[in-house]
Amino acid sequence: MQDNIKKLSAPTIIQTVIDLRTSVKQARLKNKTIALVPTMGALHDGHMELVRTGLKHANHVIVSIFVNPTQFGAGEDLSSYPRTWDADLEKLTATGAHTIFFPSVDEMYPDGFETTISVSGVSEPLEGAQRPSHFDGVATVVSKLLLQSLPDIALFGEKDWQQLQVIKRMTADLNIPVKITGVPIVRDKNGLALSSRNAYLNEEQYKIACHLNKTLLAMAEKLKEKETIDGVQQWGVAQLKQAGFDAIDYLEICDAATLGKPGIGPLRILAAVKCGKARLIDNIGV
Ligand code: PAJ
Repeated sequence: MQDNIKKLSAPTIIQTVIDLRTSVKQARLKNKTIALVPTMGALHDGHMELVRTGLKHANHVIVSIFVNPTQFGAGEDLSSYPRTWDADLEKLTATGAHTIFFPSVDEMYPDGFETTISVSGVSEPLEGAQRPSHFDGVATVVSKLLLQSLPDIALFGEKDWQQLQVIKRMTADLNIPVKITGVPIVRDKNGLALSSRNAYLNEEQYKIACHLNKTLLAMAEKLKEKETIDGVQQWGVAQLKQAGFDAIDYLEICDAATLGKPGIGPLRILAAVKCGKARLIDNIGV
């Protein structure tokens, strides 16, 4: 009963690093374990799944909401990125998050800020090749969020598979004492991975978008049936072209951990496509 009452109370909203540190210290004094869920807001059930998983692994869950300017390239949707504070707050209250960290850009990047965290290798192909400096922005803001909150565990969606690998590499390389946990992709009933950017799709584009996951699933089947990697990749590209996407940024079959050429480890198929104003990404394990 006590737990239910606690879950229904609204999360504490914190806007400064100093208040975040005080709040984490107080939670630690009560022997709480801390989970961090970094987000850029416009929350949907994919984000909520990270929060729910965080609540299973820790007893104090912090959700950060920060539309991080340094990970958006010129001409990307920084200014139009959906901002839905009231709905986000409602969802986080209903899910039972304890704290929302909602810093300003000045709080995260004060005057004189000069540092960039750059991960080589795993951040270079795919998204890294399409969006130069995107992962520098992600690695920098995530390392800051981890050092500001010092959680036991931080949760990231497999939807952004490459981002998850970059963050795992970075935390290992910098000895940041946190467990990075990936959470499986949450999809709608037609298999489309939930994304804040799906809001840009009209009805016709939505139908096209649903072909992305179907193609990846069929490719995974073909690989399991021992068809060649090149053959399956070319088949997939032809399927996506036929489905009517405006552009295929990439469709690659990679080593799941390094995102390099397929080796002896598990494979991952990763894709990014454009459909109207929306750029959609998806991936699947083989
Ligand atoms: P954002 O796009 O808001 O996503 C926040 C987290 O939610 C990421 O870990 C992402 O992989 C996860 N997520 C999004 N859609 C999902 C889905 N359908 N199923 C499962 N997880 C999903 O990713 C970012 O923000 C930023 O790059 C961030 C890590 C916050 C750094 O600024």
